[in-house]
Amino acid sequence: MKWTVDRIRKLKGTAKIVSLTAYDYTSALWMEAAGIHLILVGDSLGMTMLGYDSTLPVTMADMIHHTRAVKRGTESALVVADMPFLSYQVGQDEAVDNAGRLIKEAGADAVKIEGGAFRAETVQHLIHNGIPVMGHIGLTPQSVRAFGGYKIQGRDSEGAAQLLTDAQALADAGVFALVLEGIPAALAAEITKAIPIPTVGIGAGPGCDGQVLVMHDMLGITKDFAPRFIKRYAEVGEAMQTAFANYKADVEAGTFPGPEHCY
Ligand code: KIV
Repeated sequence: MKWTVDRIRKLKGTAKIVSLTAYDYTSALWMEAAGIHLILVGDSLGMTMLGYDSTLPVTMADMIHHTRAVKRGTESALVVADMPFLSYQVGQDEAVDNAGRLIKEAGADAVKIEGGAFRAETVQHLIHNGIPVMGHIGLTPQSVRAFGGYKIQGRDSEGAAQLLTDAQALADAGVFALVLEGIPAALAAEITKAIPIPTVGIGAGPGCDGQVLVMHDMLGITKDFAPRFIKRYAEVGEAMQTAFANYKADVEAGTFPGPEHCY
């Protein structure tokens, strides 16, 4: 059965929401087979797929291209597409146009935007136009320049109070779920208790209603990046390097292709 925003919302208090990022058809197929509820086509694809050092250069064309690929590999998971930097911040009509493209052209089921209470009007505008929205607060990567780096948010009482206000405002505005990224675990648990919609944590501890990880991080494909919030469930990067090196050695030695590979 298809995961809809309504079904995801109703998981709050009953079962954990399990989410991963994906950026291509084949990965989406394997996530479907594993029963992942919510696939996020994150603008983290700027780093994992395109080699940028942040999400800032990611374009609408990038997001549409990768969301289409994920959608083709997905049957029941809810597909949420990130709105890239400056595709929703400048004007509300532009936000609707761009979100509409992710829904109409790319087939996303919902969009995700970053930002707190100051984003509530945009959220309402999108929802009034029939576009389901996921919120995202805390260490929001599109604000990396404003934060002066990838820093945990909400560590002091003022920052924590602001995040609580933000979460409440976004819930009131109608987001169906809220990503909490890079905040203290106790604060994430407090926010989760305070709002009626599910929270999905990344670097936010176990008190959230669900969890999301970047696929490349949890598979061990990401090179030279090991913050403590990531659990590596495989060492796919190492397995890839070994396979590439074995292939090279076989070709160089003339042992591949062998007779069994010939017509
Ligand atoms: O772009 C992304 O992958 C994200 C997740 C980290 C939540 O926004």
